[in-house]
Amino acid sequence: MPTPHNNAKKGDIAKTVLMPGDPLRAKFIAENYLDGPVCYNEVRGMLGYTGTYKGVPVSVQGSGMGMPSIGIYSWELFSEYGVENIIRVGTAGAVADNVQLRDVVIGMSASTNSAYASQYRLPGTYAPTASWSLLSAAVKAAEEKGGVFHVGNIFSSDTFYDDADSLAQWQKMGVLAIEMEAAALYMNAARLGRNALCILTVSDCPLKGLSTTAEERQTTFRDMMEIALETAYSVK
Ligand code: HPA
Repeated sequence: MPTPHNNAKKGDIAKTVLMPGDPLRAKFIAENYLDGPVCYNEVRGMLGYTGTYKGVPVSVQGSGMGMPSIGIYSWELFSEYGVENIIRVGTAGAVADNVQLRDVVIGMSASTNSAYASQYRLPGTYAPTASWSLLSAAVKAAEEKGGVFHVGNIFSSDTFYDDADSLAQWQKMGVLAIEMEAAALYMNAARLGRNALCILTVSDCPLKGLSTTAEERQTTFRDMMEIALETAYSVK
């Protein structure tokens, strides 16, 4: 049944969904990587498509920016549409010194400054963690691809423009990169007993004042996409 945010009918969405933040990237992925893509959602322009990759059904849908947005879309995919696996594919800012522009970062865990976990009323601090099934498949795909990639803790921030300037402190704790969605996605997956992973390409280095061009972003985006699609294929 459609939700307030998604027009898809039950059965329209594959068991594995790739989620870029930008819905136009979802369109790009569907048109360039999937066979026979069919658009199942246009509500709020948050485009979603289902097609096949190497014969396996895969969907791709925008998540929007930030944890409230991915929190809504991923919750509905898991709970209303029976989705088993969500793989976020996005961009990130480098935090660790050895993470360079264009590198791929796979989020094993996601620290956060968000209050998202407060809804669970846990008597302690929850550690949002990727699912091993997806993480191990993605690492294997990244190894086979051969480019530079890192696996570890990422930081999901509520702010892009951060008055507190806290990145140096996250760097001291071994955080690899900053983005804005993974922690909520990992918590939704945990709460509903499903699987989630976040794969990122480094588009900028906020601590060093560097960023990639739009053209470079497109190319490095392809490496990440191919890792994500191979991951989707291996958990078919
Ligand atoms: N901060 C937050 N999210 C991001 C960044 C950043 O510097 N770069 C890409 N996504």
